[in-house]
Amino acid sequence: MSKHPVSKDFANQVKPRFPVNFFCWLKKTFITSPFQTFSEFYVRAARYTPFNSKAKAVLLRMRGMKIGKMPVIYDCVWVGLPSNVKVGDYVNLSRDVLLAPGAQKHESIEIGNEVMIGYGAKLLGSDHQIPEDLNESIRWSGHTAAGGIVVEDNVWICANVVITAGCRIGTGSVVAAGAVVTKNVEPYTIVGGIPAKLIRRRTGKQSH
Ligand SMILES: CC(C)(COP(=O)(O)OP(=O)(O)OC[C@H]1O[C@@H](n2cnc3c(N)ncnc32)[C@H](O)[C@@H]1OP(=O)(O)O)[C@@H](O)C(=O)NCCC(=O)NCCS
Repeated sequence: MSKHPVSKDFANQVKPRFPVNFFCWLKKTFITSPFQTFSEFYVRAARYTPFNSKAKAVLLRMRGMKIGKMPVIYDCVWVGLPSNVKVGDYVNLSRDVLLAPGAQKHESIEIGNEVMIGYGAKLLGSDHQIPEDLNESIRWSGHTAAGGIVVEDNVWICANVVITAGCRIGTGSVVAAGAVVTKNVEPYTIVGGIPAKLIRRRTGKQSH
């Protein structure tokens, strides 16, 4: 048996073959990578000021990300596939935030208005399929159907939170520092822990 047993039929179906892989390599090497390297260098090198937030937003928009009014984008914010990310107005992305949508439409990341995402938070918009067949490679098994992350308006995601694919974070909720969110979060609740559980509900009245 080979060192990495893979069902041959399956591998042949999924792996890109010549000349497709050659053209992908050409595109990546001479078109995508230089442009990405430039914009990522700029996004990383710029320090946090409102002006630089604007400049970072311009570069991310050039790469297809939809960003609303007045974003605040700190250093070292990493966006995996900007064209599959949508961010509302007055959103705050702190240092080391990672937004990692998948390549498919249903694996997008959508963030509402007035959302704050704390230092080091990671939003992981896609999951690899884990095949039942133990001989099949996870590498070539594709992604699950339950993808994407939606963060509704007026949410605070604290530092070092991890949000897994398929979760919706309800409006007005808070995800406490270090939580790993694996299920939807109800509106106006505070959740925390691994996996994230209800800490308490916000009980105040709505003024309008
Ligand atoms: C979310 C947070 C604000 C909670 O505030 P709160 O509602 O006032 O909560 P409390 O401090 O009253 O604690 C309520 C309960 O939740 C628990 N709790 C608080 N923070 C928690 C966390 N991060 N993970 C798990 N449980 C937590 C407390 O231990 C307490 O449990 P108990 O009732 O069993 O004693 C706060 O804990 C937090 O996560 N702060 C980090 C903020 C941050 O990341 N700042 C960086 C800038 S973006």
